[in-house]
Amino acid sequence: MDFPVYPPYQRPWPLMFDGAAAFVQPQLVQNGQLQSAPEWFISSDPCLVALTILRIRYQTESRSSMAAASINFLVLLIALALSPLSLAFSHGAHPFLYPQFYDYSCPKAHQIVRSIVAKAVAKEARMAASLLRLHFHDCFVKGCDASVLLDSSAGIVSEKGSVPNRNSIRGFEVIDEIKSALEKECPRTVSCADILTLAARDSTVLVGGPFWEVPLGRRDSLGASIQGSNRNIPAPNNTHQTIVTKFKLQGLDLVDLVALSGSHTIGFSRCTSFRQRLYNQTGNGLPDFSLDAGYAAHLRAGCPRSGGDQNLFPTDFASPARFDNYYFKNLLARKGLLSSDEILVTGSPETRRLVELYAADAGAFFVQFSKSMVKMGNITPLTGNKGEIRYNCRKINHQ
Ligand code: HEM
Repeated sequence: MDFPVYPPYQRPWPLMFDGAAAFVQPQLVQNGQLQSAPEWFISSDPCLVALTILRIRYQTESRSSMAAASINFLVLLIALALSPLSLAFSHGAHPFLYPQFYDYSCPKAHQIVRSIVAKAVAKEARMAASLLRLHFHDCFVKGCDASVLLDSSAGIVSEKGSVPNRNSIRGFEVIDEIKSALEKECPRTVSCADILTLAARDSTVLVGGPFWEVPLGRRDSLGASIQGSNRNIPAPNNTHQTIVTKFKLQGLDLVDLVALSGSHTIGFSRCTSFRQRLYNQTGNGLPDFSLDAGYAAHLRAGCPRSGGDQNLFPTDFASPARFDNYYFKNLLARKGLLSSDEILVTGSPETRRLVELYAADAGAFFVQFSKSMVKMGNITPLTGNKGEIRYNCRKINHQ
């Protein structure tokens, strides 16, 4: 393992190294106060918490620098001894991600991502939607690890060929452009998985949605899973129960499901993704009666029984390029495009209540959307010495 020059708490390797380094880092604890420790340092690891308290106590009590140095050394030894325990805890529910991850190692990372996403969205407004969806399709397969970006190669079958992704998922060139700019600015530092997460947030903001702080520090996968992509990503004709279960398997609840479905306030769907609703919803040759008749007639005009598979329709016909709460208002007016959208109203009283809430209160939607995006972005990230930081988001480093 190589040890680059950035400060200890910026290093994406195992907690035991971070922990040990933290205790010898002079500015971290001063005058008995934690100065600049990221939140997880104080909260997420029991060994670090215990050792930090120990160190603060001794630093406050002992004024001699000799004594402080020997205490530092002692604490370092204890930290190393307890590191297996630290690592065991590191696999729990708390991913070790925090927004300041690149503050020292790549201070311009946020700005570079934002400017390239802004340029791409200015060129084509839909790109905001495509980048947001890319992050979702990444996180639902093996966690948020940029597996969705890998092309097929020896030993890797790309997720790009899965049923939900084929002829549908887009935005890869924008991610490539961001990655090559970041490799120039700070080589081998910013992961493709973090780029996807930041790009999803920046896209949302650019089209009028909320801003949230993005926890960072994900690493990139060494493989992909086309089976996972086919199995885990919900299909537009899945039942309500199946969709709820697929979200639950990722640790996401009903509130997350409804809020995150609000992403369909921007972007487009192909005719092939909703044709069934127009002609033969349940296999009895009849359309989906939960769809407004006038809206259905409009859709049928561009999405015939056969042909026109790739014809595009906005998932929010009222304001397709704006991140707002019209998606929810449409659902209540029976004008949701996908079956998976409309069943948020018809599938259960709980989801219906949430749709009503977000339709009435854009602020409530924005607040919950931000929280749910952070939650989705935290799905089993690779941290520590797992995975790698790819040079090129389309392939693993040593092929
Ligand atoms: C609840 C289950 C979901 C289902 C069944 C679903 C399904 C779909 C389908 C079928 C499309 C159109 C794809 C095409 O025809 O090419 C689509 C588009 C989209 N989805 Fe979802 N989705 C779901 C949840 C989500 C979530 C959680 C997000 C983001 C967090 C999201 C973001 C988007 C965006 C932004 C688009 C438009 C993409 C573009 O225009 O390029 N979706 N979704």
